[in-house]
Amino acid sequence: NEIKIFSPATVANVACGFDVLGFCLDSIGDEMVIRKTDKKGIHITKIEGFDLPFEAALNVAGVSALAMYEAAKPDCGFEIEIYKNIKPGSGIGSSAASAVGSVFGMNELLGRPYSKTELTQFAIKGEALASKCDHADNLAPAIFGGFTLVKSVSPIDILEIPSPKDLYATIIHPQIEVKTSEARGILPKEVPLQDAITQWANFGSLIHGLHTSDYNVIQKSLHDVIVEPYRSQLIPHYKEVKEAVLEQGALGAGISGSGPSIFALSKGLENAKNVKEAMNNVYSKTKIAFEIHITKIN
Ligand code: HSE
Repeated sequence: NEIKIFSPATVANVACGFDVLGFCLDSIGDEMVIRKTDKKGIHITKIEGFDLPFEAALNVAGVSALAMYEAAKPDCGFEIEIYKNIKPGSGIGSSAASAVGSVFGMNELLGRPYSKTELTQFAIKGEALASKCDHADNLAPAIFGGFTLVKSVSPIDILEIPSPKDLYATIIHPQIEVKTSEARGILPKEVPLQDAITQWANFGSLIHGLHTSDYNVIQKSLHDVIVEPYRSQLIPHYKEVKEAVLEQGALGAGISGSGPSIFALSKGLENAKNVKEAMNNVYSKTKIAFEIHITKIN
């Protein structure tokens, strides 16, 4: 009647895939305990790590739990304990991890009535509370693992994309907060046709590179001509970090989700470690605190 779960952090957008592509970081994440109770409803009983609301309707994990609870109409209630490790506003899917954790755990306790795609649908409600819009590019990789492509949010349609076996991600997380809603607010509503052509060429070839484990094609495709020019201004030393990791031989780099985290992809662990060193060199010279993680993409 109780389950303890790990809800992973994720990198959304992956350079050219704004709002549709993401991958899972299975070494960083939140923990949650979900418990079936006789008392009906959704009750958040414990939150550790960050100061977040206990009222279910105001809490990201609570909102997605309520969406599933209202659909399932179970003959019980649920208690949720949240042990939050992923800092909100860090750009590695903090709200998505919360939104996914509650519904994933409840689904297990109910005997898995819902598919992963249906869980994503419930979790979108929680994510929307945090980011003020419906996007599932952090939710889907947290639920499915690996790389996912959100073909559509309405109706919800998720594709799982394979990862080459030696693909690693290095993520630097400067300890400043960028709110997703604000990082979305500064984006243009329209894009020039030539930029759109460049972006969908890169995106299509990135998906091809992932499918065929062609690191050269992946490397050529990791560019973002639409979002990065705007959002990179919100991230201190973004350009320096990017230049430094590319010089170290990273396949590519970009803003993780809506920032401020920056991700780089590498072929092999050795290169990922060199990339970590390059990121470290740039940020050690600043007064901004930071953390760097390396993870294999499965
Ligand atoms: N695709 C979303 C955005 C992800 O970039 O706004 C937010 O983490």
